Amino acid sequence: MKNILVITASIFGQNGQSSQLVSKTLASLKAQHPDATVTRRDLAADPVPHLDADRFAALLSKPEDRTAEQKAVLDYADTLLAEVQQADAIVLGVPMYNFGVPSALKAYFDHIARAGVSFRYTDKGPVGLLKDRPVYVLAARGGLYEGTAMDTQTPFIRTFLGFLGITDLHFVYAEGLNMGDDRKHEALDRATNSIEALTA
Ligand SMILES: Cc1cc2nc3c(=O)[nH]c(=O)nc-3n(C[C@H](O)[C@H](O)[C@H](O)COP(=O)(O)O)c2cc1C
Repeated sequence: MKNILVITASIFGQNGQSSQLVSKTLASLKAQHPDATVTRRDLAADPVPHLDADRFAALLSKPEDRTAEQKAVLDYADTLLAEVQQADAIVLGVPMYNFGVPSALKAYFDHIARAGVSFRYTDKGPVGLLKDRPVYVLAARGGLYEGTAMDTQTPFIRTFLGFLGITDLHFVYAEGLNMGDDRKHEALDRATNSIEALTA
């Protein structure tokens, strides 16, 4: 494992529960792969702009027609995608905000889904163009959702990354974080044990 991409999205930065679980996962991976380089993408501190019509047009623009502004958008999106392409493992922190993934993560996903670059359409349906690699998803939630239809995050992330060709996903849930201290500590202990088991 040469490169690890760490993506966080907590509005509480490194104090966020998902960010702290990300740190534990990263520490465990680094203990086994001390030479691995780490690339960090903090989507809360450094938000990806919402995809709008101008940005989408820039992503599709032909080199000969491309304006300087469009080139800047494309270079930015290329940088985001290159970080994914170069990663041998991805550690992704996913807080639950208002029943879904953080909007910052959605904006990021909107910039790495690129027809002809990270997926392509065929007569048999879409095909992902990214090589598979392990993704550790650290999900932090105030309430309880795992295994229920209310968990909109897990199927969304599976569907989205699967669409790009990444299917080796490992979810760790810390749930019930807003349901009293005992429950919170139990959930965090359980999540820590899961991280250790997954990355051992
Ligand atoms: C703006 C906001 C919205 C939230 N919405 C939900 C929610 O819909 N369901 C839930 O279970 N917890 C919700 N929570 C609680 C968070 O999931 C919980 O605080 C979790 O620790 C967030 O991850 P983080 O600490 O990494 O930011 C919300 C918290 C905030 C700040």
